[in-house]
Amino acid sequence: MITSEAICADITTLDVDAIVNAANVLLMGGGGVDGAIHRAAGPDLVRECMTLNGCRTGEAKITKGYKLKARHVIHTVGPVWHGGGNGEPELLRSCYANSLELATKHHLQSIAFPCISTGVYHFPADQAAQIAVEAVRTFSQVPSSLQKIIFCCFSEADRARYEELLSQ
Ligand code: AR6
Repeated sequence: MITSEAICADITTLDVDAIVNAANVLLMGGGGVDGAIHRAAGPDLVRECMTLNGCRTGEAKITKGYKLKARHVIHTVGPVWHGGGNGEPELLRSCYANSLELATKHHLQSIAFPCISTGVYHFPADQAAQIAVEAVRTFSQVPSSLQKIIFCCFSEADRARYEELLSQ
């Protein structure tokens, strides 16, 4: 049985098997949540990332968590919003689905997601939250090691949005 919850927190502080990073295709760090995760994990994270040959949009790759409390980081690359007619919703759905699949492959029990693509990449927050919750619901129908899925929001507005969707 998988439980999902929405919280408002700095994802780098969470004690979970994996936190998900909203990365870019180079996997070399950046701003926003990506920058925060790399700062908190320390330089060994970028060293491991350099061995991964980047990551395509919608796909996911896993590393250790290094100095983070989280044991692993799952790096996924969300789509840049160009109006929604360029496959952005499907690509965002893939980020969630591929991250959950990778977590299952590594027998992880808990995972926390940030609001992928809704910062610098400008994906509309409402639509992104709907896609995230739908992807998790679809995933929850198949057997998995995962027991807890956290939507780690960075604003009260986002947390309330997820709470509303999760209650429906
Ligand atoms: N904990 C949780 N959520 C956070 C944190 C944090 N510490 N910091 C920011 N957020 P963004 P994107 C939220 O821009 O849109 C980077 O430069 C933030 O409020 O981090 O996918 C990468 O290298 C927002 O809700 O990611 C890429 O180039 C969400 O995380 C690019 O940005 C995502 O915002 C990716 O852009």
